[in-house]
Amino acid sequence: MTEFDTVLRGAQVFDGSRAPSRQADVAIKGGRIAAVGELPAGCAAEELDLHGLALAPGFIDVHTHDDRLLLTDPSMAPKLSQGVTCVITGNCGISLAPLGGHEPVPPLNLVADAVDPTGPRFDSFAAYFAALEAQPPAINMAALVGHSSLRVVAMAALDRPASPGEVRRMQSLLEEALQAGALGMSTGTYYAPAQAADAAEVLAVAAPLRGSGGLIASHIRDEGDGVLDAMREVIDIASRLGVRQVISHHKVLGQANAGRSTETLALLDEARRHGDVCLDCYPYVASSTVLRLDTARQAARTIVTWSRARPEAAGRELGELLQESGLALPALVEALQPAGAIYFSMDEADVERILRHPETMVGSDGLPHDEFPHPRLWGAFPRVLGHYARERGLFSMETAVHKMTGLPAARFGLSGRGGIRAGMAADLVVFDPARVIDAATFAQPLQPAVGIHRVYVNGQLSWLAGQGTGARAGQVLRRAGNRT
Ligand code: ZN
Ligand code: CU
Repeated sequence: MTEFDTVLRGAQVFDGSRAPSRQADVAIKGGRIAAVGELPAGCAAEELDLHGLALAPGFIDVHTHDDRLLLTDPSMAPKLSQGVTCVITGNCGISLAPLGGHEPVPPLNLVADAVDPTGPRFDSFAAYFAALEAQPPAINMAALVGHSSLRVVAMAALDRPASPGEVRRMQSLLEEALQAGALGMSTGTYYAPAQAADAAEVLAVAAPLRGSGGLIASHIRDEGDGVLDAMREVIDIASRLGVRQVISHHKVLGQANAGRSTETLALLDEARRHGDVCLDCYPYVASSTVLRLDTARQAARTIVTWSRARPEAAGRELGELLQESGLALPALVEALQPAGAIYFSMDEADVERILRHPETMVGSDGLPHDEFPHPRLWGAFPRVLGHYARERGLFSMETAVHKMTGLPAARFGLSGRGGIRAGMAADLVVFDPARVIDAATFAQPLQPAVGIHRVYVNGQLSWLAGQGTGARAGQVLRRAGNRT
């Protein structure tokens, strides 16, 4: 009698916990892992021999801007091709819901289509989640609500802190999102729509998080000269609320600040002695966001990722465009708007030190709607496995897998995910540990990674031999303790 749907035999199993990998058989039944160990022949309808390959929990991309992509391209190829089976949306203060018909001022245009008014828009998280469940994507998702999106909806002007009435309106929008199952709130005081929000405003708006089990994830106010003060600001807000703080895409920007991750990580370790702080990181020395004059000035090199005014600039170096145009930098940046860019302004030693920190999770921060995106969109996870773990020996393969599975599942409260044990959801990735590597580069950013053999989402084979299978088994993962 066949007890299971599928049994994956003989792979080296990395169970997401950082425990030493071991060879084992893993059985799937009805979307869940049904058994792990040595399983008898003939126990499943489908038996696969995976000797020589690695089997891990599906990767969790904790830092994404995939809010709209999940609906407009439910194949989710940039993520599925890396072995990612769950994305967390709504980071950096920007979320598609509950923006509704409000103007997606930059950087909200990274998730809401500023040009096509018929693109997906939602007044509430309940409506957003309902749309995702009516037309499921290929991978799971969980969501944060962006503070900047709340500001755009609730405030008459963005160049000042919120009034008491505006705070109440944002609180009720956050309340609705939490009720619907959002994991928490994100902030992005680095960006224009929230720059004028002081700590008191964020603390007041986030009040519904108290006791909810939700967390705050923050793109801090300054990742350059003022990085320590900016970290202290968000750590203090979270500790006053009694909630977990995630420092998003942690880095130190600017040549003058090279090496200062020793200071930022010391601050983090100190804060962890009395508070709940963790972080995520993408494995590259270049950042990417909307095109900004101050950020371009801070960078050694800048590449344009898209430009509405001059589409032909996508993929070009800002330095070349400067020479060709004869314009000064401020005028050129203005002439390209709205636009996005990649900035080379980090130090490799800092990136490695941050990635190595035991609390660091992997988040891609990929920008899926850019014409010429940062290669992290297609490469972040295989790059950590292949480049940083295997080639550079920064940490073991077990630790690399933990940073993308068990650790984020625990920190973001995704129960029943991120591990390989009987009863857990069958989100699984089969990869070749000797060959897995990112293929996307700054020159050719749209390349699927190498060495990802198969990906299962809720027990359904969703990626096989370099292609999506067409399965759409993704689920909306709601905050534990909420109504569904
Ligand atoms: Zn950010
Ligand atoms: Cu981001």
